[in-house]
Amino acid sequence: MAIAHEFKHARRAVALTGAGISAESGLGTFRGRDGLWSRYDPAVVASIESFNQNPRKFWEFARDIGWKFLEAKPNAAHIALVELEAMKHLHCVVTQNIDGLHQRAGNKSVIEIHGNIGRVNCTMCATTYAAENIVDSLVQQDVPTCQRCGGTLKPDVVLFGEEIPKKTLAEALKRVRSADVLLTVGTSLEVYRASSFPELAKENHAKVISINMERTRWDDFSDYQVHGSAADVLPRIVQAIRISF
Ligand code: APR
Repeated sequence: MAIAHEFKHARRAVALTGAGISAESGLGTFRGRDGLWSRYDPAVVASIESFNQNPRKFWEFARDIGWKFLEAKPNAAHIALVELEAMKHLHCVVTQNIDGLHQRAGNKSVIEIHGNIGRVNCTMCATTYAAENIVDSLVQQDVPTCQRCGGTLKPDVVLFGEEIPKKTLAEALKRVRSADVLLTVGTSLEVYRASSFPELAKENHAKVISINMERTRWDDFSDYQVHGSAADVLPRIVQAIRISF
């Protein structure tokens, strides 16, 4: 398998993941026919403007969808990336996902460019809480407040209209720019900054491998495209690497 060969010879392979890798963990994707944004208007429920204007409405939405993220379990695709990392064929995972499933699966090097719904920050004193430690206030208060200063709490996720934290972005760009293989998995590559990563990797002469259920606009740009489920394709790549030695 040519893709297994690319990993076998990679010095710094980086995986860029999106919602599709967590689809088989029961977490829907954002775009496409049954995507979350076909049911909710992201500008109304997931923008920093809507949060500042009406945090009560924002928290209604966050409560509606948040539990599924906190209860989801890693699937075979997440496990395969852990195995690739353990075999020293994967240097780092850069994810757009806020579900924390890469870390829960066991990946050591994960950069969450859109944050993590399992953390909650105070918008006043910047205290960070683990969501699981303040469940009562998240459930009982229409607008959860900080136990230290009474400030409004906000999930540690990058909402539309918000910048990716500078340190996080710099780290992600550094990894993508120095990659010799960039594997994109389960992402439509429609959202900027991540949508620019394949091009950045290419500027470094990296091989771009795309695994996605549907075509993306980067398909013609990639060196390899596999249209299929991440939980099916990634374990097969790991297996092919194992038997190729
Ligand atoms: N295996 C592989 N790919 C899949 C699977 C699967 N089981 N199921 C769906 N996909 C693909 C879809 O074909 C789609 O192209 O995953 C892609 C998911 O694309 P999006 O829903 O656009 O999600 P993503 O690319 O992660 O979105 C980026 O947009 O809404 C914001 O902040 C949010 O991080 C998110 C960002």
